[in-house]
Amino acid sequence: MNAPMNPSPLARFRPDVQSMSAYAVQDARGMVKLDAMENPHGLPPALQAELGARLGALALNRYPGERGNDLKQALAIHAQMPEGFALMLGNGSDELISLLAMACDLPPSEASQGQPAGILAPTPGFVMYAMSAQLQGLKFTGVPLTADFELDEAAMLAAIAREKPAIVYLAYPNNPTANLWDDAVIEKIVDAQGAQGGLVVMDEAYQPFAARSYIDRIEKHKHVLLMRTLSKFGLAGVRLGYLMGPAALIAEVDKVRPPYNISVLNAECALFALEHTAVFEAQAEQIRVERDKLLADLATVPGVKLWPSDANMILVRVPDAAKTFDGMKARGVLVKNVSKMHELLGNCLRLTVGTADENARMLAALQESL
Ligand SMILES: Cc1ncc(COP(=O)(O)O)c(C=O)c1O
Repeated sequence: MNAPMNPSPLARFRPDVQSMSAYAVQDARGMVKLDAMENPHGLPPALQAELGARLGALALNRYPGERGNDLKQALAIHAQMPEGFALMLGNGSDELISLLAMACDLPPSEASQGQPAGILAPTPGFVMYAMSAQLQGLKFTGVPLTADFELDEAAMLAAIAREKPAIVYLAYPNNPTANLWDDAVIEKIVDAQGAQGGLVVMDEAYQPFAARSYIDRIEKHKHVLLMRTLSKFGLAGVRLGYLMGPAALIAEVDKVRPPYNISVLNAECALFALEHTAVFEAQAEQIRVERDKLLADLATVPGVKLWPSDANMILVRVPDAAKTFDGMKARGVLVKNVSKMHELLGNCLRLTVGTADENARMLAALQESL
């Protein structure tokens, strides 16, 4: 066989990867940045100086070592992880989601009752659940929420019975809808997934702003993992996610983790933040107060429909999302237009809660751009 005349190395990339778009991060320079659920508050100057000195003294010439274990212990205490559970670290929860897909990528087997491994989540939901499945070559099943973004209990239970997924993700609260789902429905889904031998991952990325957490129910189950991140807490730039669960399950996921996935800088920043939780908790409290004020203000704007929020974001529906998004952008306010993400999100924008001043600017820009 003759070699092709002009072989292209591009042909060595998977066709599905070639047809994908890279995750787009919007250019936010000079804008009021309210598009990615970041904490708008930085570290106070005295803490910046203290952290700087600590980071400067680190052994950057060494691979990360024992400090990772110190961080795991500090996080376990911070999260009040139950006895007998274990915790692993990820470079953001994004990495943990990828590792979970990798670790569960099984062909059809007796354990999965003849089904290849798959991932199931309510939709609209966090994009990485579907993306991790696609990249790992696993089937993703999205089960639409109701029109008001509640779990569709019957559809979820039917899909679990049909697909027998390896993993069910439940974001608690959900992104981009910002709500906490009904606990009784969640328990039925968790039980159904357990009965067919699958895993449930409760994703609590927005826990600092939520009225409830699954941490006090996790001990009841042997198949539920709880994932959190320090991103929304105030360290989005640091990249630090963590996954807790029964030790035997965490041990399996931990085997596919790249050995030095958490840099000495990530670990030290996270430890520093956990030594100053009062600062971050006060910031979260301020964000919750601002969120409730923004919800009340938005409720008075004619033409805007909004939903309750247990997170640091608010989902709104406007008459023309593209027009409002562009108008807000032209006024220097960047939010996220999620209207093309899912059919249930027609004309929806996702607003991140910022400082009082940022929120006032956002509200004014929104009203002027409707
Ligand atoms: C529900 C949910 N889970 C996980 C993440 C990822 O967080 P991290 O910054 O830890 O990768 C996000 C980010 O927006 C999210 O919305």
